[in-house]
Amino acid sequence: MRTFATWLFLLALVAVLRPAPAQAEVCQDGELVIRFAHVVAARGHPKGEMATALAARVNAEMDGKACMRVYPNSELFDDNAVMEALLMGEVQIAAPSLSKFEAYTLKYRLFDLPFLFEDMAAVNAFAYGSKGRELLRAMEDVGFVGLGYLFNGLKQFSATTPLLVPQDAQGLAFRVQPSAVAVAMIEALGGTARRLPFKDVFAALERGVVDGQENTWSNIYTQRFFQVQNGVSETNHQLLAYLALTSKEWLDGLEPAVRIQFLSIFSEVLDSFNARAEAINARSRQKIIEAGGTVRQLTPEERRAWVEAMKPVWDQFRDRIGQDMIDAALAANGAG
Ligand code: SIN
Repeated sequence: MRTFATWLFLLALVAVLRPAPAQAEVCQDGELVIRFAHVVAARGHPKGEMATALAARVNAEMDGKACMRVYPNSELFDDNAVMEALLMGEVQIAAPSLSKFEAYTLKYRLFDLPFLFEDMAAVNAFAYGSKGRELLRAMEDVGFVGLGYLFNGLKQFSATTPLLVPQDAQGLAFRVQPSAVAVAMIEALGGTARRLPFKDVFAALERGVVDGQENTWSNIYTQRFFQVQNGVSETNHQLLAYLALTSKEWLDGLEPAVRIQFLSIFSEVLDSFNARAEAINARSRQKIIEAGGTVRQLTPEERRAWVEAMKPVWDQFRDRIGQDMIDAALAANGAG
């Protein structure tokens, strides 16, 4: 029989081991409240982990001045509503994927071009280079300030049937983000694209509303997409990265010392998670395999067939994106 002291010890242990809540519980009177809303898992995901770490730093180092609360899993806003919420001051930080800004600018279509970046080293070189930095300001005229790019990784295709060559995708319906480039990409494969919010993807796959999806290892693992698909093919066909942003009005309205401290913490945390994004995705890939999921690697010929099938998509968007931007992104390949 357990003694009262043993029960106390066990209760204390449970309290210590319990996962930390995703958001800071309490903000003190007088503190500036900074809400960060996003749509992904709080753990095991480059964006979710970054948001949690950022809140921890802000809450420790700006205690008494500012307090950050994080709202993961679309629990406050989805990526569509969050843009309006930023302008209304209901949330201060968001990081939708670069595929989700078509209502505000078409410049980010660059990042969606299939097989543009060979690897994350190239993404890093472009994003931190001069053209990448220039693009951070693409939405200033509509009231948003880009604080930096937050990396996730390259995307992989999956469906209810194995996908080894592009012909395998013919006639299938795929969930895509709200991006004209993504739609064109699926159509180039002979499939049908359905734009669906992230929070609805698992149910859409499970119920057969769509046959397949394309996302990063960390999203495929944390959202359990692999459980309702016939394997995941390692296509690495397109980038998933985010624009961490805020409203210009909010940022300009901060006391200078608070703004400087917040931005400095923000960019340190962002850089450190950008350096870790690839490892987080590699871990998710491994966890999919350990959980019994199938990962299909493509032969060089199979991969070339996917590149050839999607290459015509570039011509549909080249003029709007600008050849100078495409050239700068291509020049980043080989940076690793
Ligand atoms: C995300 O990683 O933020 C979600 C991307 C998606 O909608 O697929």
